[in-house]
Amino acid sequence: MHLFDRFKVYLYHRNRIKTWSGNLTKIQGWSSEHAQQVRFDVIRGAADFNGKHVVDLGCGYGELFDFLSERDQLAKYTGVDQQRQFLKSAKQRLSDKLDICRFVRADLSKFTHDNVDIVVACGSLNYKSRDSEYLTSMVAHMYNMAGEAVIFNLLDSATFPKQNLVTGYNKQGVYLYCKTLCESVELIDGYADDDFTIVMRKS
Ligand SMILES: C[S@@+](CC[C@H](N)C(=O)[O-])C[C@H]1O[C@@H](n2cnc3c(N)ncnc32)[C@H](O)[C@@H]1O
Repeated sequence: MHLFDRFKVYLYHRNRIKTWSGNLTKIQGWSSEHAQQVRFDVIRGAADFNGKHVVDLGCGYGELFDFLSERDQLAKYTGVDQQRQFLKSAKQRLSDKLDICRFVRADLSKFTHDNVDIVVACGSLNYKSRDSEYLTSMVAHMYNMAGEAVIFNLLDSATFPKQNLVTGYNKQGVYLYCKTLCESVELIDGYADDDFTIVMRKS
C-alpha cells in the first residue's frame, strides 16, 4: 500500500486512540462490538482452525486470536499491523501466549510468511488506496501465502455509503475475480447490512 495511504490509516487510528480512550472496538473503527463479533463468527465458521498456523493481516489488537481460541487450539497465530500501539497492547494482553502468538509491525500488503495454513483479513482491506489494483493484488498475495484457505471480508458497495477513508466493493465482481484464482470460492453475506465475506479454499 502506498505510504501516503498507509499514513492516512495510521492517523485515523491514532485520532481514535485519543477520542475513544480504552474502547478497543471504536478505536479499531467498528460501529459496535456486534459488528466486529459477527464478522469473527463468520470467519470461525468458515474453517477448522485447530492445529493451524493463522496469519491475521491487519490484526488490530489481535482479538481474533481470543475469539478463535475459544473453540480451536491454534498451532500458531501471526498478527500483522502497522499501528504500534495496537501490537504493544496485544502483546501485553497475550503475554502468556507468546509461544503461539507473534505480532509483526509491517505493511500487510508486503508481509509474507512460509508454512501458513490460513490467511485472514478482517476489516483491513476496506481502506481506500490510490492503486486501483490494490484489492486484486492483495487477494492474489494472500492466496499465494495460504496453504489451505484465505478468508476476508469487505464492505458491500450496494449498501455502504461513500466515504473518504474506506470503500465498498461489488461482491459479485470480487467473487468472480477470486474464481479466476481458485476453484472453490464461497461468498457469505446476509450477516450484516453492509458486509460480505469471501472464503477461498485450496484443494
Ligand atoms: C478495522 S481494523 C480491524 C482490526 C481487526 N482485524 C479486527 O477485526 O478487529 C483494520 C486494521 O487494519 C490495519 N491496516 C490497514 N491497512 C494496513 C496496512 N497497509 N498495513 C498494516 N496494517 C494495516 C489497521 O491499522 C487496523 O488495525
